[in-house]
Amino acid sequence: MNKIVVLVSGSGTNLNALINAIKSKKVRNAEISLVVSSNENAKALEIAKNSKIKTITINRKNFNSNEEYQDELFLCLKKENPNLIVLAGFLQIVSEKIVRYFKNKIMNIHPSLIPAFCGNGVYGLKVHKAVLEKGAKVTGATVHFVNEFADEGPIILQKAVKVKQNDTPEILQERVKQQAEWKILAKAVNLFCSNKIYVKNNKTYIN
Ligand code: GRF
Repeated sequence: MNKIVVLVSGSGTNLNALINAIKSKKVRNAEISLVVSSNENAKALEIAKNSKIKTITINRKNFNSNEEYQDELFLCLKKENPNLIVLAGFLQIVSEKIVRYFKNKIMNIHPSLIPAFCGNGVYGLKVHKAVLEKGAKVTGATVHFVNEFADEGPIILQKAVKVKQNDTPEILQERVKQQAEWKILAKAVNLFCSNKIYVKNNKTYIN
């Protein structure tokens, strides 16, 4: 059984999709042992509690420096000792120390087709605003392993989504979640838990 820790900050729809995929056995050999939130008011916490998943909040505001915050997060993750960590709308950067310790064991979901519309500071609705401003006709989502550079780790899965003429960032965000994020996140976790993902030279290969 693979132990998974999910890190969240917000509405938790990706967490919800993952919980449902595990319940319905679309994801096998996996259990979410802990949900860590950076925000005590995150709806994601309620979602976890409703499924009887252990939760903890580690809020940056309660620490004097980012270093102290990252150390606490690192200790918490080390103690839980998961096989996989999933960043599902986690609005904090994770330190290099964490990334090195859990090399190729941290997955992130990003709401665009990387390398488009990503990088430092490009997250949440900003991504969808940028897509609409550019007039792109296709966007999507990407699940990738996390390395020390924002959105640059090995890509695991991607799925394209059409942009429509009258889209607002909010409408587009919702379509990308429904048509791409929830599906490829569960699929990527299932591949990982079936030992089907292999990483070489910053690229993934799926058996
Ligand atoms: C998603 O769009 C995800 O791609 C991004 O943050 C958002 C989280 O949404 N990293 P939710 O909390 O899972 O609803």
